[in-house]
Amino acid sequence: MIVQKKRIAVIFGGKSSEHEISRISASYVISKIPTDKYEVLTIGITKKGKWMLYTGSTQAISDGSWEDDKNNKTAFITPDASVAGLAVITEGGCKIIKLDVIFPVLHGKNGEDGTIQGLFELSGIPYVGCGVLASADCMDKVVANIMLEQCGIDQAKFTWFYSSDYQKSPDKYIEQTEQALLKYPVFVKPANAGSSVGISKASNREELQKAIETAMKEDSKILIEENIVGKEVECAVLGNDDPMASIPGEIAPASEFYDYDAKYNNAASELFIPARISDELIYKLRVTALKAYRALGCTGLSRVDFFVTDEGRVLLNEINTLPGFTSISMYPKLMAACDIEGTDLIERLIEFAYERSEKNV
Ligand SMILES: Nc1ncnc2c1ncn2[C@@H]1O[C@H](COP(=O)(O)OP(=O)(O)O)[C@@H](O)[C@H]1O
Ligand SMILES: [Mg+2]
Repeated sequence: MIVQKKRIAVIFGGKSSEHEISRISASYVISKIPTDKYEVLTIGITKKGKWMLYTGSTQAISDGSWEDDKNNKTAFITPDASVAGLAVITEGGCKIIKLDVIFPVLHGKNGEDGTIQGLFELSGIPYVGCGVLASADCMDKVVANIMLEQCGIDQAKFTWFYSSDYQKSPDKYIEQTEQALLKYPVFVKPANAGSSVGISKASNREELQKAIETAMKEDSKILIEENIVGKEVECAVLGNDDPMASIPGEIAPASEFYDYDAKYNNAASELFIPARISDELIYKLRVTALKAYRALGCTGLSRVDFFVTDEGRVLLNEINTLPGFTSISMYPKLMAACDIEGTDLIERLIEFAYERSEKNV
């Protein structure tokens, strides 16, 4: 019996400050999709937001040269559910390619924030990962913090304001911050950050003002948190309405905090799997990861990041709905530590996409 292959579209790149990381993540994901079961289409989105169907090598996706491929064709997922596929612009007009499932390997704005998920919903095509609301809520660190606070999950003290309000009366918001957080240093973040872009640590009022200016370049909403001293521990979660939480892993950043450079360029950042914390804390962290995942309505996958202090506090930092999938990324490593590896992991993610669309979980 010949089994019809399913057609999967992997989307990479994107109009996001994490465009480059997405390309590397996508190459990893593509290399793990079993080609005996799936016909893989690759759709690249440039930094300017142009969509193209790309048919060349995976290597050119990671190094960025895919954009110059002569065979690229303008193509996009159509929102028309009766089409349920990709519209490819050809010389003679437009060709439709039906799709069975979509794997968006996009990080940050426009890919991890619910926007593209809205398009997938309209198209009626099952897709890997979180839906519109969970993606949007987790992407906005202020919204996520408020929701986590509401369900009693421990996290850093925080305050927030709109950039436009700050510009009108900066002193008022500096004072609000100092009153809410009580002491320096503090962490200043654009509400919609990713890969540490626009995030800085401020040790006094002057630095705070500078840090706010930096964050305002990235977003119209600013989050300020107390500085937490502790280990950075991450937990990978997989599944829909009955998810599993992985063995947690620890990152020991090479620089003062886990900034963009430490994340992607500095090999001196070390990973420890399992994290160097007690079994009791590991248990607490896994339970909290699952609670947060369900509270925010995540599906498919997410990586839940924590701080663990020497006093044994487990504080949730953030939830990444489309975590990095490079060969050095924590999510695939944590799943591998739970014996869910490579192709098995990718297939499970695809299965969860189908389950979500069929059962409406
Ligand atoms: N409240 C905090 N206290 C101490 N360190 C922090 C705090 N918030 C963020 N950091 C440091 O900054 C890094 C990036 O912040 P994070 O909120 O995770 O943003 P991103 O979405 O860019 O990963 C963290 O991995 C951590 O090293
Ligand atoms: Mg982070």
